[in-house]
Amino acid sequence: MNIVYKSTASRGELWARLLAELAPEINFRQWPDIGNPLDVDYLVAWQPPENIMQWFPNLKVLFSVGAGADQFDYASLPPELPVVRMIEPGLTQGMVEYVTFAVLGLHRGMPRYLQQQRQQQWLEQPAKPAAQCRVGVMGVGTLGEAVLQPLVQFGYDCAGWSRTAKNLPGVQSYVGEAQLNAFLARTDILICLLPLTDATEGILNASLFAQLPPGAALVQVGRGRQLNHQHLLEALNQQQLSAAVIDVTQPEPLPEGHPFWRHPAIWLTPHIASQTQPESAVRALLDNIRRFENGEPMQGLVDRQRGY
Ligand code: NAP
Ligand code: GLV
Repeated sequence: MNIVYKSTASRGELWARLLAELAPEINFRQWPDIGNPLDVDYLVAWQPPENIMQWFPNLKVLFSVGAGADQFDYASLPPELPVVRMIEPGLTQGMVEYVTFAVLGLHRGMPRYLQQQRQQQWLEQPAKPAAQCRVGVMGVGTLGEAVLQPLVQFGYDCAGWSRTAKNLPGVQSYVGEAQLNAFLARTDILICLLPLTDATEGILNASLFAQLPPGAALVQVGRGRQLNHQHLLEALNQQQLSAAVIDVTQPEPLPEGHPFWRHPAIWLTPHIASQTQPESAVRALLDNIRRFENGEPMQGLVDRQRGY
């Protein structure tokens, strides 16, 4: 069995070491050292080469290194080729940590206190209990569901918005376009954990921000193309929004001089909210290959009709 890996080289070395321990029968090759492309069964990629099928005509499955699988050019892929996104506990845990940090920081007014510190101002702001802080998660999938658990434990008033109804303890479920307004109207801290699809591109825009209660905050950990930068800046400058924690942008990295770099109400991180952890990802990959070869359903199979 032959696997080609095309992503960060240093992490690829870890994948190679782990696979050699766990599945020595697998021949693992790291891009650009692909061996005979006709032999390649599985491609594991973040940014794949163009025309994947011309490179690897006998490919059986295309695996994304990440939770998102929006980076592939689906039009160039045969409809029957399975595409699988990454579901693994290390990636999930990273997102839980980041979103918990962001919500606690926003709820406790940290963007404002950091500004006050820079101005040498010792000034108390009113603090409301978690139960009076309404958190809303857009996208209640693998990651959205996981981030909601500790937020419920902290006592936040939690809701989720998704295409299909959810039944999670302590989380009010809002479904589809018809319930988006009601979901936004009750949300003080909005977390975007949606996949990038035709329906979610540009979704974080002026009309959405206008439906949030004045002074709401945003945590954007989905994909860069979901957020309209200019609309966010206007919403912050008009105090419709109070703060934003932004991990993903379009483009990445942001150009020098982009207003997000220095905006006092924006915390910006370089797409690190969560990262695939080789130790657990290699096990998830092996489990999916075993499933595929036994004719069982793989975890994280992309539904091309839905777009995620
Ligand atoms: P997932 O399991 O596929 O969950 C996606 C969720 O979004 C589902 O609940 C789905 O609803 C909902 N959804 C999709 N389209 C929708 C729409 N048009 N309207 C309402 N709800 C919609 O995905 P995941 O594993 O949780 O990952 C989510 C995304 O997080 C990834 O695609 C990636 O973009 C992003 N991510 C970012 C980082 C980072 O470091 N910043 C790391 C990992 C992932 P249903 O449940 O009803 O299908
Ligand atoms: C990172 O953004 C991922 O999709 O895993």
